[in-house]
Amino acid sequence: MHFTESAHMSDLIHDDYRLLQVISRFGVSLGFGDKSIREACTASGVDTGTFLAVVNFIQSEGRLPVEELAEEVSVAELMRYLQRSHSYFIDFRLPSIRRKLIEAVDCSAKNQIAFLILKFYDEYASEVQRHMDYENTHIHTYVEQLLEGKVPGRHASYSELAHQHHDNHSSLSKSSHELKSIIIKYYPSDSDTQRLYDALMDIYIMEEDLFSHCHLEDTLFAEAVRSLENEVRCKVRQGDGASADGQAAGRSDATDTSGELSDREKEVICHVVRGLSNKEIAEKMFISANTVMTHRRNIARKTQIHSPAGLTIFAIVNGLINLDEVKL
Ligand SMILES: [Fe+2]
Ligand SMILES: [Fe+2]
Repeated sequence: MHFTESAHMSDLIHDDYRLLQVISRFGVSLGFGDKSIREACTASGVDTGTFLAVVNFIQSEGRLPVEELAEEVSVAELMRYLQRSHSYFIDFRLPSIRRKLIEAVDCSAKNQIAFLILKFYDEYASEVQRHMDYENTHIHTYVEQLLEGKVPGRHASYSELAHQHHDNHSSLSKSSHELKSIIIKYYPSDSDTQRLYDALMDIYIMEEDLFSHCHLEDTLFAEAVRSLENEVRCKVRQGDGASADGQAAGRSDATDTSGELSDREKEVICHVVRGLSNKEIAEKMFISANTVMTHRRNIARKTQIHSPAGLTIFAIVNGLINLDEVKL
């Protein structure tokens, strides 16, 4: 269903409860009675075109053409929406899941596995925070300058700035997948099952929400910013002739295809878990640092675990190392 400004605001929620989050992040308060979308947005000082573009983007799950939706968007309004979403994840969602994990099981250093899983969760939360801080301080600052009619000279283009970030979105999704997998496979059996399942459900819901947020940044927001950028560049060229161009670069990853962990790879895992650097591992195993890196890439591919905290849990659970050898 494609919503228009005359539809009732309450119908949005009845149609798709996920849109509650959108309404809240735009700062539209509940209690809108039978107000239409346009009336409710106007009453809360929200740009109706941007609100509808986001609602229809999420609700259609990418079936509507982004170029058309982006034409209705106010970049400033959409950026405020993204910033409120960042605050929601950092200040509310991630801490609330952490509390639930702690309630579900004794996470003190006494219970080593639970303690390590909590540490893994904290690393994931920090990764999300770093990601969003970068957007607030780099990408959004760049866009703010465009909104003031300036082409920021230090950066070649929005595409260039956002390119590296696109990779970060894939990395976030890999980390959350790993987090769920570790909780499902390794959480201690003496946990409070109901609370643990509840926390896990929250992680699934947050992951979906975060994925939708990243997708919106990569498509609708990116399209709207690029169009603003073209407009500003044209105006600047017509004015004093200043200009800058940028382009995104392609990437490729080399992978190999073997299955089980080799003895050398298990040895590398044990050294990583003991807290050794790649250089130290290379010296201990009489191999080059490059070979250590290759082992680590193969380990990540075979175990689907990419962080030292995750490898520690893997090593303990699979009996590769004793608890007292682990660097906590
Ligand atoms: Fe973001
Ligand atoms: Fe992002």
